[in-house]
Amino acid sequence: MKIVQITDLHLGPPGERVFGLDPWMRLEACIANVNLNHADADLVVFTGDLAHNGEEAAYVELRMRLQELKAPFRLLIGNHDDRATFRRIFPQAPVDDAGFVQSRIQTAAGNLIFLDTNEPGTHAGRLCAARRTWLEDALGANPGPAFLFMHHPPLSLHLAPMDAIRLRDAEALGEILSRHGEVRHIFFGHVHRPIAGNWRGIPFSCLRGTNHQVWLDFTAESEIPCSLEPPAYAVAFIQPEQVVVHTHDFLDASPKYAYDPDLSSDEQVKLV
Ligand SMILES: [Fe+2]
Repeated sequence: MKIVQITDLHLGPPGERVFGLDPWMRLEACIANVNLNHADADLVVFTGDLAHNGEEAAYVELRMRLQELKAPFRLLIGNHDDRATFRRIFPQAPVDDAGFVQSRIQTAAGNLIFLDTNEPGTHAGRLCAARRTWLEDALGANPGPAFLFMHHPPLSLHLAPMDAIRLRDAEALGEILSRHGEVRHIFFGHVHRPIAGNWRGIPFSCLRGTNHQVWLDFTAESEIPCSLEPPAYAVAFIQPEQVVVHTHDFLDASPKYAYDPDLSSDEQVKLV
């Protein structure tokens, strides 16, 4: 199974720049690149912060732009989104019984579970008792392999300003995942940086957003060190025996060439 992850679009109303960048141009380039190279994806997952400030106009335009995407998609919300506005503009987006933007898809490779960690009034994430109960049921519905998609990271990433707004309730989440015992990977956004590792033995990965990024600075204490590093999307190959996650800087325009051992390195680069 092939899954594309796109995250942290931070879309404002059409035409509005965010941190000096055009998030709509970037989304358009991202969708075009995914269509060109990964139209065969089983699913494209947008892991939250679709809008920069939960603007209705951003969701309306996004709904239109997503018609261009060839692969099926699933939308998650993040701390910059507004759940009520999102649900009004995307009435078909699946939600749980309590109205949280949570859902699951049973596939041959396992149970794909999409969580809603948005909490109004804070940039930190929450997975309240109602959401955790839903998750327990979703995991319990199938004892096989499961893969989680969510906006907030549940662990400290050694980036103090981001750690301050990570998922609360992480301990309770961890206990649920440990009880299930077959969660194979957690995909999250929020951090605007490529990071991989494992949490309580469960592998995780995240990546840069499509607009602005977070700079690698382990000394920053309270202010988030932002940057205009290039945007990326991720491509995950999920199989029974392995999970492989690639990231692709889709706006990168550096020279490409095919390796030819019969030519010197200088000669190869001249072919560009
Ligand atoms: Fe974000």
